[in-house]
Amino acid sequence: MNATMHAVRAHERGGPERYAYESAPRPEPAAGEALVAVCAASITAGELDWDATWTDSFDGTGRDRTPTVPSHEVSGIVAALGSGVTDLGTGDEVYGLIPFTRDGAAAEYVTVPADMLATKPATLNHDQAAAVPLAALTVWQALVDHAALQRGQHILIQGGAGGVGTFAVQIAAALGARVTATASARDKDFVTGLGAQRVIDYRNEHFEDLVHDVDVVLDLVGGETLDRSWAVVRPGGIVVSIVQPPDQEKAAARGARGLFFIVEPDRPGLMAISELIDAGKLKPVVDRVVPFTETRAAYEALATEHPRGKVVLHVEHGGEEAG
Ligand SMILES: NC(=O)c1ccc[n+]([C@@H]2O[C@H](COP(=O)([O-])OP(=O)(O)OC[C@H]3O[C@@H](n4cnc5c(N)ncnc54)[C@H](OP(=O)(O)O)[C@@H]3O)[C@@H](O)[C@H]2O)c1
Repeated sequence: MNATMHAVRAHERGGPERYAYESAPRPEPAAGEALVAVCAASITAGELDWDATWTDSFDGTGRDRTPTVPSHEVSGIVAALGSGVTDLGTGDEVYGLIPFTRDGAAAEYVTVPADMLATKPATLNHDQAAAVPLAALTVWQALVDHAALQRGQHILIQGGAGGVGTFAVQIAAALGARVTATASARDKDFVTGLGAQRVIDYRNEHFEDLVHDVDVVLDLVGGETLDRSWAVVRPGGIVVSIVQPPDQEKAAARGARGLFFIVEPDRPGLMAISELIDAGKLKPVVDRVVPFTETRAAYEALATEHPRGKVVLHVEHGGEEAG
């Protein structure tokens, strides 16, 4: 293997304009890590504004990590293993969520703690698999780990048509819940097709008039939508937000729980998700696949467009040097 690789890197903190496709040292796997030959990566809106993208902490106090590589969802093939890794082998097809405080996967190779990788769903190609980890793990951790959603319970998903929402509707339905979701009128059929029994047009209808006493609200919108959700959760129920911490006084007044969390890399969660995918119960929604040489343009487009599903970077190995 060459000691260098092609990667998309930024040498200074900033927006998409900082990224260049260039030669970079190929990383070496440390103890407990896998070196993954990247086949595909996917990008997340807002990622470039986070301290973790540029430093080694989430709170702005960390050490500068530039030059940094973006795109923290990966699907690829294990190329080498650091010492102590016994549960993966070279040639394994894997996917996973890379911590945002490390280099991402817009590169020919990336090192990842081996216990954060799981076997890629057999029924997906790498481009499709790279669209899964962040959104699906967020939903899995919200519904299974935090809300303990049970078969037959009623869940209201605020924002069912977005990147996370499309996974939320499918996973809640696969877990046997009765799913109501809010979305724009144009997305009603789309969200119904994902498994929602009822879709509420959030611009023209008030969800408070249409649903009552739900067991779980999953809030993917925040702000006023989160605030209004207390009116529809049953006493003893739970509002889980992935956008902002819910108001604990309002939770107590309703006799319900309110919780915010940030998704974490999670091999057992990914394995459960792979099973749902291979059983035909969950499909990623991919808006488009672009060559990773066009990473900068892909981030620029995310700032103005609103894709339905993920934007995936396809990583071709051995490409020519670009400017
Ligand atoms: N805590 C975590 O670990 C974590 C993990 C992943 C994501 N997030 C956060 O979760 C949020 C959602 O992410 P995403 O990637 O799914 O975003 P997204 O793809 O932009 O989707 C947002 C969706 O919400 C809809 N929406 C907007 N206002 C709404 C309202 N008032 N009621 C119902 N639906 C509404 C939008 O519909 P229209 O386009 O039709 O308006 C869109 O379909 C973001 O804030 C993201 O940062 C947090």
